[in-house]
Amino acid sequence: MADIIDGRAVARDLDEKTKARVDALVAAGHPRPGLTVILVGDDGASQVYVRRKIKACEKVGITSTEHRLPADTKQADLLKLIDELNNDPTVHGILCQVPLPDHIDTRLVLRSISPDKDVDGFHPVNVGRLSTGTGGIVPCTPLGVMILLGTVIDDLKGKDAVVIGKSNIVGKPVANLLLDAECTVTVTHIYTHNLPEIARKADIIVAAAGAPELVKGSWVKPGAVIIDVGITRIMDEATGKEKLVGDVAFDECQHAKAITPVPGGVGPMTIACLLANTVQVAERMAE
Ligand code: GUN
Repeated sequence: MADIIDGRAVARDLDEKTKARVDALVAAGHPRPGLTVILVGDDGASQVYVRRKIKACEKVGITSTEHRLPADTKQADLLKLIDELNNDPTVHGILCQVPLPDHIDTRLVLRSISPDKDVDGFHPVNVGRLSTGTGGIVPCTPLGVMILLGTVIDDLKGKDAVVIGKSNIVGKPVANLLLDAECTVTVTHIYTHNLPEIARKADIIVAAAGAPELVKGSWVKPGAVIIDVGITRIMDEATGKEKLVGDVAFDECQHAKAITPVPGGVGPMTIACLLANTVQVAERMAE
């Protein structure tokens, strides 16, 4: 049987370390780390995500501030708010929840957040820093993927890694992080030929395609490590109830060395990494 990588437990450990870093900053007389979240409009899923992020801040002692703006907020007003937050020394992390309403240029807004406070790691400057291996803020889900891999593989050097999916928020940054860790990396996407064959060569599979149960057991080399970033709600034919599944046919992959479950794998790591990124900014600003 494959080892199940317990993302909830790893996230709890990371939160403990983050809390200790918060306490150390405060004990040294520095301002308490603060995260500001901007939510424009009333998208239901976004409201749930933002609530979770704010609640998670409380657990580790990070101050959180929420700016809820109406759906018809003018782009100029949003940019003005971000400019104020960029210049506010009590604000460490700034996160503008996406999607934004259609009349707002999302890329322009994300670019207007100071790269040094961009705890999502979405700013082109942070993307550039990541792709050149020169520090910066690493996006939360890719950082979580690397931490989970670190719990089951001591040294990534020379491993064959396949990243399934080339999104800007997961596939591409994960590929860069794996390259930095000296893996040989193949990135695949929907036009890739022979995906099963490519996957079968991998020591590490990171599935981030958003395609439920795409990766079959026969695609997985015995002893491979699988990180499943996908999460899709589907109807379970057997029970007639909805259930969450990943991009990997979990039950078929028990010959893997280790695998993340869905839910309870990568998901819990994302918010834990957001908190860690916020503290990283606060530590930099305290230098
Ligand atoms: N919307 C869904 N996930 C995210 C995220 O990680 N960051 C931001 N800013 N918006 C999101």
